[in-house]
Amino acid sequence: MARSKITVVGAGNVGATLAQRLAERGYADIVLVDIVEGLPQGKALDMLEAGPIVGYDSTIVGTNGYEETARSSICVITSGVPRKPGMSRDDLVKTNQNIVRGVTEELVRRSPDAILIVVSNPLDAMAQLAFEVSKFPRQRVIGMAGVLDTARFRSFIAQELKVSVRDVEAYVLGGHGDTMVPLARMCTVAGIPISTLIPSERIEAIVKRTRDGGAEIVNLLKSGSAYYAPSAAVAEMVDAIMLDRKQILPCAVRLDGEYGIRGLFVGVPVKLGAGGAEEVIELELTGDERAALQRSADSVKELVGIMQI
Ligand code: NAI
Ligand code: 2OP
Repeated sequence: MARSKITVVGAGNVGATLAQRLAERGYADIVLVDIVEGLPQGKALDMLEAGPIVGYDSTIVGTNGYEETARSSICVITSGVPRKPGMSRDDLVKTNQNIVRGVTEELVRRSPDAILIVVSNPLDAMAQLAFEVSKFPRQRVIGMAGVLDTARFRSFIAQELKVSVRDVEAYVLGGHGDTMVPLARMCTVAGIPISTLIPSERIEAIVKRTRDGGAEIVNLLKSGSAYYAPSAAVAEMVDAIMLDRKQILPCAVRLDGEYGIRGLFVGVPVKLGAGGAEEVIELELTGDERAALQRSADSVKELVGIMQI
């Protein structure tokens, strides 16, 4: 049986790093697409030539077109413009809307059965757009943000307590923006709630740093935004789908009444497997948490309104 094919659109920081991570998994061939001539071809060839050293046989093809993407199992959309210092994710909406619309049309024409993973910002609005344009069932259009935001939250807690990141379990829900909802109440270290381990003002500071995690990196880099953790987050989602792990991960999916929200992409825990977002997991939230999630959904709604889709 031939290896599966995964397409990554955008051969920039996130896309190229993701392609490398996926090639190293060895379970799929990779097609890397970008509009800049030579860029995806050069990066793909460079990655292919790493195969004998790292020990993978995956083929990696770079292209400026879409013919090579046909019959992909998963298509990841990272094409778009990243933030500059002082810019919010929402400022990106108009530019990235046109890019994501065109890319989605090209992808679904050739891979009608694929699972789409959207990364381009503003994430929740772009996922919503890809859903509307593709007309795919909601299980097959998934936005990446929660795994990244949760990884940031877990990193800061692990640092605070000087424990392994593996021992920290946490969820960040809501939109990928200032209204995201880190669920501090449900965060545990080896099963122990962090409220019994970390003073509340420190928890608040960690929650704030998590919310501002993307901007912290933009301000340090000065040009471009984070890509090592974002690409690792997408790779974890791709693993869960390719290996049918049924793994519960926070992802942006179109809610259909769950958490009292309908018709909008919002980050919630979902079961990821071969069918994509196979199930939305409904956590029992407090009134405050539910209200915060609703506020987050309202801000996604506002952005979707700007797109006029
Ligand atoms: P980048 O600028 O390094 O790469 C973007 C690439 O997209 C460029 O190579 C560009 O030529 C390409 N591109 C632009 N228009 C295209 C088109 N029509 N077709 C094909 N390729 C096209 O940016 P980076 O850092 O890779 O970020 C990509 C996107 O992902 C940004 O919108 C960024 O804000 C977002 N992002 C989202 C995260 C999340 O948590 N959801 C995390 C990190 C980044
Ligand atoms: C981040 O959170 C830029 O959205 C991206 O790093």
